[in-house]
Amino acid sequence: MQEKTLVLIKPDAVAKNHIGDIIKIYESNGLRVIAAKMMQMTDKLAAKHYVEHIGRPYYEGLVEFMTSAPLVAMVLKGEGAIAKVRELNGKTNPAEAAEGTIRKLYAENGSRNAVHASDSPESAAREIPLFFSAAEIFD
Ligand code: CDP
Ligand code: MG
Repeated sequence: MQEKTLVLIKPDAVAKNHIGDIIKIYESNGLRVIAAKMMQMTDKLAAKHYVEHIGRPYYEGLVEFMTSAPLVAMVLKGEGAIAKVRELNGKTNPAEAAEGTIRKLYAENGSRNAVHASDSPESAAREIPLFFSAAEIFD
């Protein structure tokens, strides 16, 4: 099934000049970029995007990191895109991520971990409109 998923290239990977390296991995695995923008996340957007993490011990540090510098938000489209992107990203903590995954290659640690991707169709449907209007998505 053709799916859409939200990807964020997080501030650590942007600062280290890995935007192109990361997009290359998605594109060479059959995914298409149908929306993209560089932006700095606000506290308000972080609270919406990470709503299920509010109250967790890492939440404040996560928001501080995500709002600290620009990120690149994208919508990727492709066959089974949601699971495929999660697999290409690798596990949350790069120490546990498989060889060749984006997090194994580029993440600093389990917080500054290079990329975000929606984890289910419900998450993708909730997250994409937080970052993009319908007119910004070239489906
Ligand atoms: O991003 P992913 O879905 O793989 O992981 P998550 O468990 O949904 O957590 C969301 C984000 O919170 C992670 O990607 C990390 O940036 C951060 N996090 C953290 O800083 N420390 C943790 N113990 C767990 C998550
Ligand atoms: Mg998650």
